[in-house]
Amino acid sequence: MFKIVSKRPLNEANTVVEFVIEAPLVARKAAPGQFIIFRLDEYGERVPITIAAADREAGTVTIMVQPVGQTTKMLALMSAGDFIADFVGPLGRPTHMEGLKRVCVIGGGVGNAIAFPVAKGMHDRGIEVDMIAGFRSRDVVILEEEMRAAVSNLYITTDDGSYGEAGFNTVKLKALLDAGEKYDEVMCVGPTRMMQRVCEATKEYGVKTIVSMNPIMLDGTGMCGACRLTVGGETKFACVDGPDFDGHLVDWDSVIKRSKFYADEQAAAMDHICRITGGVRQHG
Ligand code: FES
Repeated sequence: MFKIVSKRPLNEANTVVEFVIEAPLVARKAAPGQFIIFRLDEYGERVPITIAAADREAGTVTIMVQPVGQTTKMLALMSAGDFIADFVGPLGRPTHMEGLKRVCVIGGGVGNAIAFPVAKGMHDRGIEVDMIAGFRSRDVVILEEEMRAAVSNLYITTDDGSYGEAGFNTVKLKALLDAGEKYDEVMCVGPTRMMQRVCEATKEYGVKTIVSMNPIMLDGTGMCGACRLTVGGETKFACVDGPDFDGHLVDWDSVIKRSKFYADEQAAAMDHICRITGGVRQHG
């Protein structure tokens, strides 16, 4: 069993919640870009979540969760002192950082919770990092102080213009590239469509672009095939070959098609949790 050490909302709208979990063996080996899979109990679904931070001395791992599915909503109802059944990791390959001098990290929505530890990890290794953090609106902005402290230039964008620069983060990226900013690489984390748009934009400028993929996962060991995707014409498994891939080689149409496979099951599960909690049904 794994103890929840602390829990805190990361924004006013409570759309992202941070949990610190006691998991010393995971903390000892975790690196930026890797993830864990947790289950609330022995019958629960397996949910992959990126490791936001690891404290080797305290033996804790930090995760940031958007409570939109059945299991993440149930986790959001738990408190410090409660226990979850499984917390397995670190899984996946750490984000590649060797040889990089200047990188633009771009996050969309809750994807910023994944982009932030990567940006910080790069910054800690002496890489110059610009970060573009895109959000829907001011009330869902997360980690602003932490991001600002960890990068050279932070650009916040909101779709509705209620905070930072108005417009999509992809527009800001194009503006920076148009202005002559040079990056060894763009690292991108967020909704599938956003990552696809970023890749289309960077292709024009010939900038290598790494995307952090987050498909449905089951075993997390490369055995079940649930997380497969096509990259450069080859079948890859996000859990063991990724989660980071060259975004210019990803077959985005098949990624989008596969992401809809379990929509009916997820909707049925949400009906179930809403009857338990009286909550409002959400999708995505
Ligand atoms: S989650 Fe089963 S192969 Fe990746």
